[in-house]
Amino acid sequence: MFENTLAFAQQQDQKDSLNLYREKFLIPTNNKGEEMIYLCGNSLGLQPKKTSEYLDQELKDWAKLGVEGHTDAKHPWLPYHEFLTNSMAKIVGAKPSEVVIMNSLTANLHFMMVSFYQPTKTKYKVIIESDAFPSDKYAVESQIKFHGFNPENGLILWKPRDGEELCRIEDLEKILEKQGDEIALIMIGNTNYYSGQSFPLKKITQLGHQYNCIVGFDLAHGVGNIQPNLHDTGADFAVWCTYKYLNSGPGSLGGCFVHERHSQNSDLNRFTGWWGHNKQTRFNMRHEFDVLSGAEGWQLSNPSILSMAAIRASLDVFEEAGFDRIIEKSKRLTGYLEFLIEELHDKRINIITPKNPAERGCQLSIQVKSANKTLHTQLTQADVISDWREPDVIRVAPAPLYNSFEDVFIFVERLKKVLN
Ligand SMILES: Cc1ncc(COP(=O)(O)O)c(C=O)c1O
Repeated sequence: MFENTLAFAQQQDQKDSLNLYREKFLIPTNNKGEEMIYLCGNSLGLQPKKTSEYLDQELKDWAKLGVEGHTDAKHPWLPYHEFLTNSMAKIVGAKPSEVVIMNSLTANLHFMMVSFYQPTKTKYKVIIESDAFPSDKYAVESQIKFHGFNPENGLILWKPRDGEELCRIEDLEKILEKQGDEIALIMIGNTNYYSGQSFPLKKITQLGHQYNCIVGFDLAHGVGNIQPNLHDTGADFAVWCTYKYLNSGPGSLGGCFVHERHSQNSDLNRFTGWWGHNKQTRFNMRHEFDVLSGAEGWQLSNPSILSMAAIRASLDVFEEAGFDRIIEKSKRLTGYLEFLIEELHDKRINIITPKNPAERGCQLSIQVKSANKTLHTQLTQADVISDWREPDVIRVAPAPLYNSFEDVFIFVERLKKVLN
């Protein structure tokens, strides 16, 4: 199906219907102005060329209109987040009313836990995957403490078995069988930042709900990378960032999903602010808080228009390209990367990411036994931007919107050179 030649890679690029999209991005260059092999969209996605135009429009409207831009800008600032909702909802497989762009990722995770982690004396534990991203773990631990419990017994880690790298769903089932009555929340990072493993969201949600647990997901590494079909999974909430596969710039605003069955639930705790208040009366100022229905009701502050303009530019690229086509290319591109790495026949290399395309996105986590960070430094010197995780893993993520089969081929050639 694949061939280990540059000619084959170039042929694949010619056949690729998304090939033209690379042109729509700014690819980082070396000192000589040559394009680098950028495989780090799992950390920070590249800048669409459109972005500066979208930002510029807001800067111009701000210069020309000042405060009037809230209502009179070409894209008025008051409802600006609404311009993002439909595209964002499609990408996460949700209804528009279930999705909102606001705050940043860890902040959103806290706000979701304020509403959805309501522990009792007997049912207070939280499950996360053992190699959860540190910020998720810190957020969960601090919520457990905030409610007066001890993370030492309140936090349960869903771990891979000894000698394995990936978490098995049967082991999550066993944890729930034993301790389900004590577990209030399951909060899983999907796709896992380290291993690249994508977990079965619907299955986890159904399992959790069977034991009356709330189920939430952190889609930092999933959004724009896999189709999580959030509504259909039945998950209670999800949070994500927009600076990785959603290419919206460093520190750009995050996103949040609240399943529609919670949209009118006034029993939930909620930290509130004026942006979650009824839009019709928000500026009358002296009304009692009147919460918006749906995910919008969780907003607190008026959001950064510049950040949202960058998100709009990026989502427009996704709309144009079509997410189904993006996913289809992603599977083939990552499959090609996997094939070429296997072709190295290097016994030091172990790809820890699942082999099954349904259990991963575009990232492959390549363990290089007995390697250290020098390997990564050498790759950087060879104009490859990848990312290193201690103790011995290089993470590479060919992003289907701007990476080519040729990028993947050249990367593996350079990796081979560095390994030798
Ligand atoms: C899985 C995951 N959770 C949380 C974070 C922290 O994100 P932020 O700094 O935007 O809150 C990241 C950042 O990369 C992440 O990958």
